[in-house]
Amino acid sequence: MNGFTFDDIPDQSGRTALVTGANTGIGFHISEMLAKNGAKVLMGCRNREKAEDARQDLLKLAPGAQIEIVDLDLEDIASVRAAADKIDSLDLLINNAGIMWVPQATGTGGAERHFAVNHLGHFALASLLLPALAKGKDPRVVVQSSIAHRPATIDFENLSGEHDYARQKFYGQSKLANLMFALELDRRLRAAGSPISSIACHPGVAKTELTRPVGWAKLVMPIAAPLLNTAKQGALPALQAATDPEAKGGDYYGPYGFMEATGSTSGRAVATATARDPLLAARLWEVSKDMTGVDPGLPPAN
Ligand SMILES: NC(=O)c1ccc[n+]([C@@H]2O[C@H](COP(=O)([O-])OP(=O)(O)OC[C@H]3O[C@@H](n4cnc5c(N)ncnc54)[C@H](OP(=O)(O)O)[C@@H]3O)[C@@H](O)[C@H]2O)c1
Repeated sequence: MNGFTFDDIPDQSGRTALVTGANTGIGFHISEMLAKNGAKVLMGCRNREKAEDARQDLLKLAPGAQIEIVDLDLEDIASVRAAADKIDSLDLLINNAGIMWVPQATGTGGAERHFAVNHLGHFALASLLLPALAKGKDPRVVVQSSIAHRPATIDFENLSGEHDYARQKFYGQSKLANLMFALELDRRLRAAGSPISSIACHPGVAKTELTRPVGWAKLVMPIAAPLLNTAKQGALPALQAATDPEAKGGDYYGPYGFMEATGSTSGRAVATATARDPLLAARLWEVSKDMTGVDPGLPPAN
């Protein structure tokens, strides 16, 4: 099956991209390929030391590229505001950072941590950057979801995760929220006549540091790794969403392979009916506004 490959990335000269979680895993390779194709890359990272090490590694892969670090902790809305305040104009926002299978704890607005970091932090960041993106050329918001969204629902009565906490369930809920937000953002941007597109993607299953909170993963990963996408392969759907001239707002991309889990090319992925439900998405939007105190200023599409 044909699909989007690294060779299909068009020249990105003159474009500026903010990539969250750029210091490792999939975000590192999204940054690498954007930089190699001429984009200026802003690395949105929470740990300055790790980010600087990664920046040096990126400069070895893309000599002469413009790569800067923007301090960003998605768990802290004040940090998200400070990061957004530093950016005047932007062409690409890649909401990629994430945590998986962490123990129960609460963060922003009393939300459970997966929801707080993976969804609410990115909801706030995208909302605050809409004015900067509106000044960009073919501006896009790209949101990293997961095949873990498939069995998930949003449990609006238990967003704190204080009842029946299960790590897989709450990770899946946060990745469903990512996808619902991406699609709802695009509906609202279209209705408002905005030049910005919102496009979703997922990396399949890739070998990265995402399993670090899980002890047994250290034993299983070396055995499973040959069956998984590499972190670089996992970056391809996000790169398609960010750069493919054919990609449109509201699209969803993933690996072109068995069950969308692996594959060395990227193409259209399948979002569940729940992910595409505009009523649920509108409710998620309101809850996200309340929990973050950030209003994207976009009314519902109809
Ligand atoms: N790997 C997979 O198979 C897979 C599958 C489906 C979806 N995804 C999604 O892909 C995205 C990237 O994950 P990955 O696999 O590349 O994992 P990873 O190697 O663990 O990278 C995650 C990145 O997110 C950053 N991050 C975590 N919490 C943050 C916070 N509060 N503020 C700012 N940055 C934060 C991490 O920074 P630190 O290094 O400082 O912790 C790191 O840069 C995630 O959204 C994940 O849900 C991955």
